[in-house]
Amino acid sequence: MQKFKKSLRLQSFLIATKKSGRSIGFVPTMGSLHEGHISLVQKSKSENDVTIVSIYINPSQFNDENDFINYPKSLENDISLLKGIKCDVLFLPNTKEMYKDGFSLIDVDLGNLNLILESKKRPGHFNGVVFIVHKLFKIIEPNKAYFGEKDFQQLLIIKKLAQSHFKKISVIGCPTVRDNGGLAMSSRNQKLTAKQLDFAKKAFNLLKNLKEIIKKNSVKESKIFVNDFFYQYEEITLDYFEIIEESNFSLVNSVIKNKMYRMMIAFKVGDVRLIDNLKLKI
Ligand code: PAF
Repeated sequence: MQKFKKSLRLQSFLIATKKSGRSIGFVPTMGSLHEGHISLVQKSKSENDVTIVSIYINPSQFNDENDFINYPKSLENDISLLKGIKCDVLFLPNTKEMYKDGFSLIDVDLGNLNLILESKKRPGHFNGVVFIVHKLFKIIEPNKAYFGEKDFQQLLIIKKLAQSHFKKISVIGCPTVRDNGGLAMSSRNQKLTAKQLDFAKKAFNLLKNLKEIIKKNSVKESKIFVNDFFYQYEEITLDYFEIIEESNFSLVNSVIKNKMYRMMIAFKVGDVRLIDNLKLKI
């Protein structure tokens, strides 16, 4: 695996790769890699000649300084995992490199994506994500870029970014990878104690039961069920539970047959905030 810290060096490598007609798949990450990331790298490897992974903890997407400082880091382990699955290139830029021209807002028409759920709860978060992904896409200009569905709102936002600024890049959404207990893989899971992990699993498994409640009863009933569930435990606090219609990312209070919806949840276990989502079709 080749490692690059400077974008100029990486770009020389990319010019040669593109000249030889080889396709490039890109997986941007903030490190602390887990099976979810590995599945993205494997998908990229199966669809491209060369796969590039970036590891960079982007300060501007953290709306809480402590969250940024405490974000899990495991570079040595990440490198050995990537070598183990024969990733071709690792890009490891630093802040001097990524912010040499400062921070700027990237103009993307996000509609509802910019107004509700994570956008509302974490003001400025997606401005930081869009800034850094725009920068990385500009440097790498991959054929395809891979993002997990766990961060569903982020995935849709990156798709919009590509539609308006990088028409040649296909943004591929990949299914959430879960552990045996149903918990979605997340770098933040490492911060949980064994007891907290049990609570997180309980909460995620709740989503599965909700499908039936919504089908048989209503969205309103499902929200009551979720609130009652969280009320039982002091260890977990619900941030939001909402249902969105996938086509326009709008919040809905009722669902009809044949439309695609998603249940979206965010909650805190101790100091750790987790998000998840599940497809819903009636
Ligand atoms: O999903 C993430 O890990 C980050 O938001 C991303 C896309 C790598 C941008 O920093």
